[in-house]
Amino acid sequence: MEIIIQPTPEDASLIAARHIARVVREKPSAVLGLATGSTPLPMYRELIRLHREQGLDFSGVTTFNLDEYAGLAPAHPASYHAFMREHFFSQVNVAPERIHIPDGLTPHVPAFCRNYEDAIRTAGGIDVQVLGIGTDGHIGFNEPSSSLASRTRIKTLTAQTRRDNARFFDDPASVPLHVITMGVGTIMDARQVLLLAFGVKKANAIAAAVEGPVTAMHPASILQMHPVAKCFIDEPAAARLTRTEYYRWVYEQKPGWQKV
Ligand code: F6R
Repeated sequence: MEIIIQPTPEDASLIAARHIARVVREKPSAVLGLATGSTPLPMYRELIRLHREQGLDFSGVTTFNLDEYAGLAPAHPASYHAFMREHFFSQVNVAPERIHIPDGLTPHVPAFCRNYEDAIRTAGGIDVQVLGIGTDGHIGFNEPSSSLASRTRIKTLTAQTRRDNARFFDDPASVPLHVITMGVGTIMDARQVLLLAFGVKKANAIAAAVEGPVTAMHPASILQMHPVAKCFIDEPAAARLTRTEYYRWVYEQKPGWQKV
């Protein structure tokens, strides 16, 4: 895993956004795997800026979001459909028919999940998957003990994740219990994975993901097995890593052609 430590979330997000921009410029029909939550917001802002000011063109891009709350309609303000509309899709030119977000209202969850996997395959697979990380080590909503080979399916959120996400809801009790999420195996199939994490509250989760053992009890740790995984973190999120000097050194010594 490549660990990129930057002073602020904005600095780290700018590099992650430039990385995605490069992929989209090199492959205008790129397939992007997208995440919601607070973490990717500065990255989306930078991608929107690149679209507006430098003509970064998303018209050929296909997107697949990681997850959605089961039971929430796309119009619900806390749904991930609403999140993506507000923070990204309304401000760039991704074609609506190429946007895919799990349907929280599907009456046939297993069939929907199979179709979601088929749609990813038919699109040619995900070129770059953006990830945040839960304080309990989840990626997507693959909570601790999720199979490391799992595919898109319904999952039950932990009490900790429901507490962490209560800030998006008027009433903490209304945070849904269930979600539809890409599986760990689905995420691992992406050609590249960008994991973003900011703030001291993510420090333990990042240390376990990067330097801990690979275990289903900390699903993000499986990214150690991914051939092209990049971890963009700020200083507070790096606080519990033991090899930060080495990670900084590696980043400083990168050959020019590898830099974005
Ligand atoms: C969101 C997702 C989750 C979040 C994680 C961190 O689509 O899949 O794994 O990335 O819960 O959330 P934030 O960024 O709000 O701390």
